[in-house]
Formats: sequence, structure tokens, C-alpha cells
Amino acid sequence: MSNDDINPVIVVLISGSGSNLQALIDAIAKREIEGTISAVISNRNDVLGLKRAQKAGIKTHVVDHKNYAQREIFDAQLIHQIDQYEPDLIVLAGFMRILTPDFVRRYEGKMLNIHPSLLPKYPGLHTHQRALENGDTEHGATVHFVTSELDSGPNIIQAKVPVLKQDTPDTLSVRVQEQEHIIYPIAVKWYVEGRLQMIDQQAMLDEEQLPESGLLLSSNQTLH
Ligand code: GRF
Repeated sequence: MSNDDINPVIVVLISGSGSNLQALIDAIAKREIEGTISAVISNRNDVLGLKRAQKAGIKTHVVDHKNYAQREIFDAQLIHQIDQYEPDLIVLAGFMRILTPDFVRRYEGKMLNIHPSLLPKYPGLHTHQRALENGDTEHGATVHFVTSELDSGPNIIQAKVPVLKQDTPDTLSVRVQEQEHIIYPIAVKWYVEGRLQMIDQQAMLDEEQLPESGLLLSSNQTLH
């Protein structure tokens, strides 16, 4: 998107607790991100993320995947809801559905995801457990553009955390999520300011190609 857009429109897709959504709501409230979350769409009823959105005065929709026999029909309904808002950016924030290639193609270059691992390590589920089982000494989270392969697509930003001897999947996930809440708002801010783009399957920041890992967040980095 170009930085002439005055108030970029963001649609957020969730399936659960919405703590990343909350981080975005807070960053927008503090004017750290100049944009509006026009809608939050969940594939599950009754999740905390919907309550967080409602509390912030954001419109919510539920498109329950269980009501759709085929993934294509579910995705078509999702597209219908999303497109009503004519979003500049679609943010997947814990959205636990595999998307069809048509869906991904439609929003390619304007859809971001956050994944709880240092991609390309550990696409898919149970990332914290897998990092522990493999005896990794560091783990983390990645924000990336969404392309048609699961949890792939050019990396934008990563944050690392050390893996401690006494860690369990739960303790590790808490530490990783703290970092998620820092890096996702940074990536969204870059995007809505027109600084971040996907060109030829590469993530570009300020017209420079980002490293394959994405930019690595250093421990003293703030939102800028
Ligand atoms: C996060 O760990 C994110 O990396 C993964 O799903 C989780 C969502 O958590 N994609 P929340 O709903 O934002 O709290």
C-alpha cells in the first residue's frame, strides 16, 4: 500500500484468545499505528478475542467453519465478509484454519501472519514442544507474508527467546508470546506506513530486501 492512504483499514482474523489482536488494539489506541481495525472475524463463537474486539468498539463477525461442508465454501464466505470492509491489510492473529490457494492469492502481498517459531523451523502445530524435544537453545516467533504454503512466505520480523533448562511448552509459550506482542505491531506499523511490501515473493522494507530470517528484533528495540 502507499503511504498516501490516510487511514488504512485493517481486518483481523482470529480463532481464540486474541492477545495479538489486543496488542494491535493497544498500539492503535496509543497512536503508535495509524490505522483502524474495521472488523474482527472469528471462525469460532464465544472466544475471548471477540470480547476484546467488542470492548474496543470493533465490529465482529463469526464465520463458523463447522457450518460449511467444504473449505472452498467457507473461504468464499470469509472473502465476502472481509471484502465488505475493503481492507488495506488482513492480519491473521491466531487464525487456525488452513486457507485455500484462491483465498491466499486474493490477498497475496496484503496478508500477514504470526507464527510461534523461528520460521522456517517448525511450521504447523506444537512448535514449543518440538523446540524442547529437539534440545534447541533458542526459540521465538516470526511475522511473515502469507503465501500458499502453510506457515511459509517471506519473513518480515523475528524475535528470539532463550530456551531454559526448566522450560515446559507452557512456560516457553508465555515468553514467546511476550515477543509476539512486540513484533506484530511493528510489522503492521511498517505496512500501514507503506514501508513494507512483498515484491516477487520477497519482503521489502524501505525498498530494501529483508534478510531471509526477517529483521531480528534486538532486545532494546521499540516501535518505530
Ligand atoms: C499465537 O501464539 C500465534 O503465534 C499463533 O497463534 C497464537 C495466537 O494467540 N499463530 P492469540 O490468540 O493472539 O492470543
